[in-house]
Amino acid sequence: SDIYRAGISGTRTRVPVDPTTLEDAARRALSAEAFAYIAGGAGAEATMASNRAAFDEWQVWPRPLRDVSQRDLSIELLGRRRPTPLLLAPLGVMEMAHPDADLAVARAAAAAGVPYTLSNQASFAMERIADAAPDGARLFQLYWSASDELNASLLRRAEASGCEAIVVTLDTHLLGWRTRDLDLAYLPFTRGMGIAQYTSDPVFQQLVRERVRTPAASGDASTTVRITPKAIAAGVTIARKGGALTGAGLRESLRSPLPRAAVETFLDVFSTPAVTWDDLARAREWTSLPIILKGIVHPDDAARAMDAGADGVWVSNHGGRQIDRSVPTLAVLPEIADRVAGRIPVIFDSGVRGGADVFVALALGASAVAIGRPYAYGLGVAGEDGVREVLRNIVAELDITLGLAGHTRVDDLGRDALRAARR
Ligand code: FNR
Repeated sequence: SDIYRAGISGTRTRVPVDPTTLEDAARRALSAEAFAYIAGGAGAEATMASNRAAFDEWQVWPRPLRDVSQRDLSIELLGRRRPTPLLLAPLGVMEMAHPDADLAVARAAAAAGVPYTLSNQASFAMERIADAAPDGARLFQLYWSASDELNASLLRRAEASGCEAIVVTLDTHLLGWRTRDLDLAYLPFTRGMGIAQYTSDPVFQQLVRERVRTPAASGDASTTVRITPKAIAAGVTIARKGGALTGAGLRESLRSPLPRAAVETFLDVFSTPAVTWDDLARAREWTSLPIILKGIVHPDDAARAMDAGADGVWVSNHGGRQIDRSVPTLAVLPEIADRVAGRIPVIFDSGVRGGADVFVALALGASAVAIGRPYAYGLGVAGEDGVREVLRNIVAELDITLGLAGHTRVDDLGRDALRAARR
């Protein structure tokens, strides 16, 4: 109701309410490279389009004349009651959208009671993000590194800094064919962005030191520089500033051995295409936190995840950024939810833009729904306040949809709340 009152009193909100207008506002607020990186998808972006189109296959089926004056949006997830069924998906390199990046997002998420999944590719170390919003619920997303020591270290830090769960992303063992970025010759990581979780990690720092000591690996870079954690962090800052997204700055930053070694090490270890189900079992040795597998889009893999002892599956195609012409996530959600049959939570993302989308995903069996790009756009347009407004708008639309459709609890939503569109 706040949003209506503000509208009636003539106060415009800072971020556009309409998702398409919000995206347009972000396009204007961000550099061409940053917007392309965030908004873009794989190939001709058919997966992105079909993620959205899959929602058109379902319609909310309203039932009036039920008392909906008391509505409850809360859910239970990972042993705790959450005020809304939303989660923030992990988004790397948010410094492209706003200098406060993950710190601003963490504060906005905590204020809304929405758990925040910290990206392995965040712009700030997870400990700093934890300090920015100590009371906020946090999960840590891991890209399975080629270095087991690094995996173990990142998970130890996640546990120590108060994350409630680990989300292992399974769909990025190779980087997707990102046409917009390729046309702009843009990869933020090579410019020292989005690698703060790594440069703040003692195991990663050791890997960088080893690389710098090995002349063959470090090319023409000086091998006599004394590398300390502080120096590595400083070096990466230079890369970021000097890079300033220009070719000259990039060349300058690559002349300095510190950021170059850190960036090269990152590119070597951040992920591995050799990872299998057997490897994944090792995560259990490194952490006692619940482990959620993100990037499950096949019911057989959901079953396999349960066999492997996963504590949750996250149905996602990375917002259509990895494979073009991939299956839309909403189309496979019902089958996956059926197979899981309530044994572990099923988190859903890719293509969610408003509260009615959240309603549909919950009715098709999602336990919780994650938001990606919309909050990045809010961040780009108005920082922390922008993220807050985006979350508030999605929650408000969900609440209204729930009530208008004749329901009072998101927990009770089932397929009978929907009708399959027949065309
Ligand atoms: C992502 N995504 C992602 N996923 C992940 O596991 N780790 C990451 O670091 C990132 N980084 C990232 C950056 C950007 C700019 C985007 C847009 C996406 C994928 C993300 O978690 C989520 O799966 C999708 O964003 C969901 O789709 P929508 O909501 O963006 O359509």
